[in-house]
Amino acid sequence: MTLHAPAPASTAPLPGPDAGTAVHEAPEWWRDAVVYQVYPRSFADSDGDGMGDLPGITSRLPHLRDLGVDAIWLSPFYTSPQKDGGYDVADYTDVDPRFGSLADADALIARAHELGLRVIVDIVPNHSSDQHELFRRAIEGGPGAPERDLYVFRDGRGEHGELPPNNWTSIFHGPAWTRITEADGTPGPWYLHIFDTSQPDWNWEHPAVHELFQDVLRFWLDRGADGFRVDVAHGMVKPEGLPDATVNAEGLIDIPEGEVPVYFDNDGVLDIYREWRPILDSYEGERMMVLEAWIPEHRLPLYIGPAEAHQSFNFGFLQARWGVETMRTAIEEPLALADAVGAPTTWVLSNHDVIRHASRYGFPPDHAFGEGLARDEVPDAELGLLRARAATLLMLSLPGSAYLYQGEELGLPEVADIPDHLREDPSHLRAGVPGRDGCRVPLPWSGDAPAFGFSSTGSSWLPQPAVFGELAVDRQIGVEGSTLEMYRRALHLRRELRLGRPEAPVAFLEDLPEGLLGLTRGDVVVLVNTSEQEIPLAEDLAGAELLLASAPSAPAAPGTIPADAALWLRRA
Ligand code: GLC
Ligand code: MG
Repeated sequence: MTLHAPAPASTAPLPGPDAGTAVHEAPEWWRDAVVYQVYPRSFADSDGDGMGDLPGITSRLPHLRDLGVDAIWLSPFYTSPQKDGGYDVADYTDVDPRFGSLADADALIARAHELGLRVIVDIVPNHSSDQHELFRRAIEGGPGAPERDLYVFRDGRGEHGELPPNNWTSIFHGPAWTRITEADGTPGPWYLHIFDTSQPDWNWEHPAVHELFQDVLRFWLDRGADGFRVDVAHGMVKPEGLPDATVNAEGLIDIPEGEVPVYFDNDGVLDIYREWRPILDSYEGERMMVLEAWIPEHRLPLYIGPAEAHQSFNFGFLQARWGVETMRTAIEEPLALADAVGAPTTWVLSNHDVIRHASRYGFPPDHAFGEGLARDEVPDAELGLLRARAATLLMLSLPGSAYLYQGEELGLPEVADIPDHLREDPSHLRAGVPGRDGCRVPLPWSGDAPAFGFSSTGSSWLPQPAVFGELAVDRQIGVEGSTLEMYRRALHLRRELRLGRPEAPVAFLEDLPEGLLGLTRGDVVVLVNTSEQEIPLAEDLAGAELLLASAPSAPAAPGTIPADAALWLRRA
């Protein structure tokens, strides 16, 4: 059996996505797009204040073009007190001064388009910041203020209204209600916040809220946004009468497996997408929306369609444990669902809310999934990265669109040892869990520069660990076997072989050796060895061309698939 060596990594940039053609020309580009999530505060800092910003992002866009992604998704950069990393929006149509100005946003979008990259912005319609002008007026205007109708204010229960209106709890722990104090010092009504106290929920029963968000969509569409990532897309509409949730013996909201809390996934929310879709469709080009909807699978077909949203994140693959059965199921189920809804599925392994996959795969098999990495937890970094690279190759071989999170192309680990006083995640502050800051540490661009090139002054809003220096972009560019070169090669091949398109269906290979997951896409064969031993390649793959391997170095024995590694082969 001959295996040809993969093409050596080159320092020359691989061709960008149809560089030169207008970004609006490709039909239904979102169906197979690779979208790179930028978390603005941690990407690149242009003014040295330790906080990433829009000009910083613009200056680094060529890196993303060379990486070979099709689009970027920007997490919120709007005016915000930053109580939840910008997901607490005080003004949906302005840029927070920490991140720049509207002119900087325009420049970013223009430059991205020049480079052939589309731009998706985040929209946060479930709640605003408590510093939003309308919420401030609701508070300051006193009991009769009309703005109170725009949020969910209710009188408390109990003799003096001293008990919250119902028993709902916040996603960030503690009650989902906070009681206000009126200007004259008397205790007032309570307002609903499914997230932090600083994030009051909008009242989507009110037409003015609908109008407000239609205007916000138009504002960013007019500025050239190619689409929206909709935050908490299963929220917004609350069940009629705000009924108590059922609680279990410990008094906690009881959420049976596969279900969601009572305040999520109510049918009324679908009307919002039916209202938004014609707005998107009325613009030139293919403007899209992708939903962050954590909903039971059977509900997805209601959210996705020609009159609703274009696509939704599929978190099942991200939640699947390392292993043949778990990963196969996490691929088969969404593919079947995609056929049912007539829209491609999406794939994602990391984002700003979960433990980075290079660390997640380094946990023992039964490790709990959520709530961040505690300081005394030490995932196996080497194993985690090997498996993360293999899982990435598996993901990028699949039809549909793929979402990457900044820094995963460098193999960055979750950062565990952030001192508590520097952590900013409200779930840490409210519940004392480690929280999500560990995946939000600023990116390393150059191994020898202050703050590893994140800022010119060496300032960084969260401290970067020494290992970030070794993983910096400039230490990996052109280095054969580096994670960055693996991503670049994979994205290039994915485009060339049209792996994101549905034409060559996913066919799983049966009767493989234990621990081996295999599938084909036309003449491309994808193999993932989930076991701890090398597995010899089957005879019928003798002569196959090795397109790409996830392991950083060649296998010890030729003709084998190393443990915890993936291969892309092309049949002779
Ligand atoms: C989404 C965001 C998360 C944020 C939450 C509240 O889940 O991804 O970061 O905390 O919404 O806006
Ligand atoms: Mg800055």
